[in-house]
Amino acid sequence: MRSVMITGASRGIGLEFVRQHAADGYQVYATCHKISNADRLQALQADGPGKIDIIEMDVTNAEQVKAVAERLKGKPIDLLINNAGSVERVFYGSGAYEGKDDPDLRNYDFDGWLDLLKTNLLGPARVCGAFVDNLAAGERPVAVNMASTLSSIASTWQAGRYAYRTSKAALNMLTRSAGEWYEKRGIILVSISPGWTRTEMGGPKATSSAEDSVKGVRHVIAGLTMADTGKFFNFNGQIFPW
Ligand SMILES: NC(=O)c1ccc[n+]([C@@H]2O[C@H](COP(=O)([O-])OP(=O)(O)OC[C@H]3O[C@@H](n4cnc5c(N)ncnc54)[C@H](OP(=O)(O)O)[C@@H]3O)[C@@H](O)[C@H]2O)c1
Repeated sequence: MRSVMITGASRGIGLEFVRQHAADGYQVYATCHKISNADRLQALQADGPGKIDIIEMDVTNAEQVKAVAERLKGKPIDLLINNAGSVERVFYGSGAYEGKDDPDLRNYDFDGWLDLLKTNLLGPARVCGAFVDNLAAGERPVAVNMASTLSSIASTWQAGRYAYRTSKAALNMLTRSAGEWYEKRGIILVSISPGWTRTEMGGPKATSSAEDSVKGVRHVIAGLTMADTGKFFNFNGQIFPW
């Protein structure tokens, strides 16, 4: 049975990854920030086919990640989706696409920015490190860092949303630089953008449903070879400019 670990699985894109992989008979390690906030995940576990193991894992909590790695020691993981992520909705408007970004750096909440880096950059880095042996023991192992259109330096010339943009651009650099470390262990590591998706983060005006975004990302994953390691893809399979 193939196995997948998904971070941030309580809702949105992460929950949809769980739904689709469970339906396909995967052993799913569905990790979430707080089990007390994971009602939909628990409902999926009760109803869904396949095997869903719900595990509390705040990706910013080093001790918790270490404890989960200890618990899963020796268990192969074929696919890791570093999906957990956050955006600075608390410290200004509701979206880059609604003209509400505040471009004035003097108004920024730098503590919030740091928290976001902890979740979007250090979290995936910590998880990539903690589960490297599980992946190395997997079959055609792949790890995915969930990037974003907003993480592309090449396609950005728009002020605002600094914390999210810088965290995801740095995550792409993690994909490039840790890609070589992973490659030596036979693991493919890529960044993939799910596209603008209707979730709590993406909002109701987003262009894709979570179901379609996840299908797209999964299609990209299915076609990956080791030669793709360290690349940045869009969910439609196209290479994204860094
Ligand atoms: N939606 C889009 O349009 C879009 C576009 C490009 C990229 N993405 C990326 O795709 C991923 C999923 O996005 P989404 O739209 O599904 O977002 P979402 O609806 O806001 O869900 C985010 C998930 O991450 C979890 N999370 C946040 N902080 C965490 C932590 N410290 N530890 C573990 N889990 C944590 C949340 O759990 P709690 O609720 O318990 O905090 C939630 O399950 C993110 O990385 C996002 O940046 C999304």
